[in-house]
Amino acid sequence: MTDSGTYNYTVVRQFAIMTIVWGIVGMLVGVIIAAQLAWPALNLDIPWLTFGRLRPLHTNAVIFAFGGSALFASSYYIVQHTCHARLCSDKLAAFTFWGWQTIIVCAAITFPLGITQGKEYAELVWPIDILITVVWVAYAFVFFGTVMKRKIKHIYVANWFFAAFILTIAVLHIFNNLAIPTSYLHSYSIYAGVQDAMVQWWYGHNAVGFFLTAGFLGMMYYFVPKLAGRPVYSYRLSIVHFWALTFTYIWAGPHHLHYTALPDWAQSLGMVMSIILLAPSWGGMINGIMTLSGAWHKLRTDPVLRMMIVSLSFYGMSTFEGPMMAIKTVNALSHYTDWTIGHVHSGALGWVAFISLGCMYYMIPRLYGRTIYSVKLIEVHFWISTIGIVLYIVAMWVAGIMQGLMWRAVNDDGTLTYSFVESVDAMHPFYIIRFLGGGLFLVGTLVMAYNIWKTVAGSKPITAAIPEPVGAH
Ligand code: HEM
Ligand code: HEM
Repeated sequence: MTDSGTYNYTVVRQFAIMTIVWGIVGMLVGVIIAAQLAWPALNLDIPWLTFGRLRPLHTNAVIFAFGGSALFASSYYIVQHTCHARLCSDKLAAFTFWGWQTIIVCAAITFPLGITQGKEYAELVWPIDILITVVWVAYAFVFFGTVMKRKIKHIYVANWFFAAFILTIAVLHIFNNLAIPTSYLHSYSIYAGVQDAMVQWWYGHNAVGFFLTAGFLGMMYYFVPKLAGRPVYSYRLSIVHFWALTFTYIWAGPHHLHYTALPDWAQSLGMVMSIILLAPSWGGMINGIMTLSGAWHKLRTDPVLRMMIVSLSFYGMSTFEGPMMAIKTVNALSHYTDWTIGHVHSGALGWVAFISLGCMYYMIPRLYGRTIYSVKLIEVHFWISTIGIVLYIVAMWVAGIMQGLMWRAVNDDGTLTYSFVESVDAMHPFYIIRFLGGGLFLVGTLVMAYNIWKTVAGSKPITAAIPEPVGAH
C-alpha cells in the first residue's frame, strides 16, 4: 500500500529511516563520551569536543532524535492502521517531519558550541523551545485529527498511550521551559531555588514516563500481538495498565531530589508513588509477554519478536530497579554513582532501543513493499547488541555500588577510608568494559543499517501478502 493508496506512508518512511540514522549518530556520541570517561585525554583540549558539551548532545540525540523519530514513525503507522484512516493532513505531517529534523540540527549545532539553558533533558535554548512547541502542536493536530476521522468505532489501546504521551509532553515542555529571555540565546527560568528543581524533575521523570515509556508501550500493544499473531493477552488489563500508569507516574519526580532542600514530605510522597509504580509497570510487561502464550515457539524462529520480548524483560528489570532506587535509604547509596547510569541504560538500550529497532524491522520492509534482506543478520544484530547491553549494565552496577561503598567507608577514628580520586581510579576497568559494551551495541545497530539498506535498495519484492491488522483490536 503506498501513498496514492489508503495510507500516508511517506512520512512514516522518512521518520523510520531517520530513526536508524539518528540512532547511529547518538550511539556513536555515546561511545565517544564513554571513551572520554575511560581515557580523559580524548577530550583533546578542544572545547567543542569536551565531555561536558558532548554529553547533552548524546542524551538529546538518543532520546529526542532517535526515540522521537521512532515515536513519530510508529504512532503515524499505528494510528492509520488501527483507525483505518489516512493521516488527517499530509502537509501538516510533512511539517512535523521537517520541523523535528530542524530542531535536531539546531541541537547538534548549539550543544558543541556550549549554548545551553542548563536543565537536564531540556538544555535547548528558548527560541528552539518555541519551535518544539509549534511542531508538537502540529503533531497533536495530525494524531488527534486522524483519531477523529477513524472508521473504526473503538480506539485501540496503543492510541491511548500515544495520546497520553503527546498531551503530557506538551504540558511538561511548556511549564518546565517558562522563562524570561534576556537575549536570543539566553533566558532566566521563571522558577527559582527549590521550586525550579521540583518543576525540573517533575519534567525529568515524566520525560522518562511519557517520552521514554508511554509511547513505547503503544508500540508494544500493536507490534507484539501482530508478530505473535494473537490478540493482546488481556484487553481489560491494558486499560487498567493505562490509567494506573499515567496516574502514578506524574507523582514520582521527587525521587530525583532525595536529601535535598525539597520538603521531606514531598520526597516521601515521591518515594511511595515510585514504589506503587512497580505494579502498573509490571502489569504492562506481563500483558505484553503473556500475549505470546500459545505462540512461544515463535521466539525460536522470529528474531524480531525475540528482540521485543527481551526488550520487555529489560523494561521489567528497570522498573523493578527504579522503585528500589527510589527508596531513600537505597538512594543514599546509589545517587551520584554509576548505578544510576546502569539503570538508565538497562531502560534505554534494553527497553527503548530494542523495542524501537524491533518496530523498524517490522515496518520498513512493509513500508517499501520488500522482504527483509537477511533474517540471519537480524540474529547477528540481536546477539551482538544483547551482549553489549549486558556488558554495559553489569559494569555500571559493579562500578556504582563500589563507588557508593567507597564514599561511605570510614575508619575507626571517623576519617574517610578512601579519597575521592581513589574511587575515580577504581572505575577505570569498568569504564573500559562499558566502552566495549556500548561499542558492541553500536556495531549491532550498524549491522541493522546494512540489512535495512540492502532491503530498501534491493529488488527483493515482497512475496507473500503483507499481513494487515488482525487480532489487535
Ligand atoms: C552505544 C550506546 C550508548 C553508549 C555507549 C552510551 C554511553 C553513555 C555515557 C558514557 C553516558 C554518560 C554517563 C556519565 O555521565 O557518567 C550516557 C548518559 C546517558 N545516556 Fe547513553 N549511551 C548509549 C546509548 C543510549 C541510548 C540508546 C539512550 C536512550 C534511549 C541513552 C540515554 C542516556 C541518558 C538518559 C543518559 C544520562 C543519564 C543520567 O544523567 O543519569 N544512551 N550514555
Ligand atoms: C517504575 C519505574 C521507574 C522508577 C520508579 C524509576 C526510578 C528512578 C530513580 C530512583 C532514579 C535515580 C534518581 C537519582 O538518584 O538521581 C532514576 C534515574 C533515572 N531513570 Fe528511572 N525509574 C523507573 C523506570 C525507568 C525507565 C523505564 C527508564 C528508561 C527508559 C528510566 C530512566 C531513568 C533515567 C534517564 C534516570 C536518570 C535521571 C538523571 O539523573 O539524569 N527509568 N530512576
